[in-house]
Amino acid sequence: MNTKTPPYRPPFPGPEGQEDMPYLLTPGPLTTSRTVKLAMLADWGSRDVEFRKIVGDIRKRILQLANCDSSYECVIMQGSGTFAIEAALGSLCPGKRRKTLVVANGAYGDRAAQILERIGRPYLKIDKGDSAVPTVDEVVTMLDADRAISHVWMVHCETTSGIVNPIEEIGQAIKLHDKVFMVDAMSSFGALPLHMVALNMDVMVSSSNKCLEGVPGFSYVVLKRDLLEASAGANHSLVLDLFDQWRGLEANGQFRFTPPTHALVAFDQALKEHEQQGGVEGRGLRYQRNAQALVAGMHEIGFSTLLDEGISGPIIQTFLTPSDPSFRFEKFYEALRVRGFTIYPGKLTKRPSFRIGTIGQIDEQVIAAALQAVRDVLGEMGVKDFTPLEN
Ligand SMILES: Cc1ncc(COP(=O)(O)O)c(C=O)c1O
Repeated sequence: MNTKTPPYRPPFPGPEGQEDMPYLLTPGPLTTSRTVKLAMLADWGSRDVEFRKIVGDIRKRILQLANCDSSYECVIMQGSGTFAIEAALGSLCPGKRRKTLVVANGAYGDRAAQILERIGRPYLKIDKGDSAVPTVDEVVTMLDADRAISHVWMVHCETTSGIVNPIEEIGQAIKLHDKVFMVDAMSSFGALPLHMVALNMDVMVSSSNKCLEGVPGFSYVVLKRDLLEASAGANHSLVLDLFDQWRGLEANGQFRFTPPTHALVAFDQALKEHEQQGGVEGRGLRYQRNAQALVAGMHEIGFSTLLDEGISGPIIQTFLTPSDPSFRFEKFYEALRVRGFTIYPGKLTKRPSFRIGTIGQIDEQVIAAALQAVRDVLGEMGVKDFTPLEN
């Protein structure tokens, strides 16, 4: 057994006492509260009545948070967010004659298209690169040009850059055209308002380890019951079949296959804390304060952001890589981690950039300490020129 103390030590305890691990300034897995972690110190029987009640409560609570009425269902899937995305696409998107339109402006939109390609479902894509917002006109033009489009898939917060897409306006146009409106709200649900009934949204997908601040292990699809019922037998996969999963949950409150019991009880606790902390509004405001403090501090240091002001949400911020030859991302990343802050490794955007998440159990105090760590590390590296690298 490795008993060595990890090299990282957060410089001070966070809002609820962080373990001896770095703060995760990432879009998930993220830093969870101590009480969410403690909820996992029990081994639940997946078929026991108490556990099945927790699963039922979670499904109900998700429906409430998405502002659903009784025509919607919540189906929990084992696995990360992409499992629920593939489940939704495979169960609901047409296989022939009809098509799905994917509105993409980053890696997660691209991934939905990649899944449709892999499972042989016809699709078209609007590709906005990775830092531009899609418009109503662009979507309507596509819908008018190809009457075979029956479904539209959009990402709410495209975590590649942190851009928040205008799902309200575009959703309204999609519904006026009578199409099935499907949204990947993975990194926004729980912190940005989402009103499925008001938007007439048919399908929404999210996961346990984002803004509701649970741990990784499962994802969920919220969708209209009539679509779910009509999907019987449509999925290409046994484990990802939404209809079968729903039937199992409805029949006896049990999963068809081993559920992530610890992740589910932790999520139950996370939902309680979400409510105590002011629900979607409270969470969104805290993340906004984090994001504002981070961007202001990074600007002060000399960094530029990838996105124009106003289109970036409070979830994750993308900063352009400085052209100073002494800046090396790997070194920057590692030196921050040793100081107690894990930022997001790797670039997803086309321009050289890196990202820092502002979600999870962190507040402005943590952001201020992270900014101090950034200053110290840049000083050590000798970085002076913050002019962004172009390519
Ligand atoms: C918008 C969005 N969609 C999909 C995913 C994929 O989720 P996962 O990595 O949990 O499979 C992510 C992950 O960050 C995301 O942010």
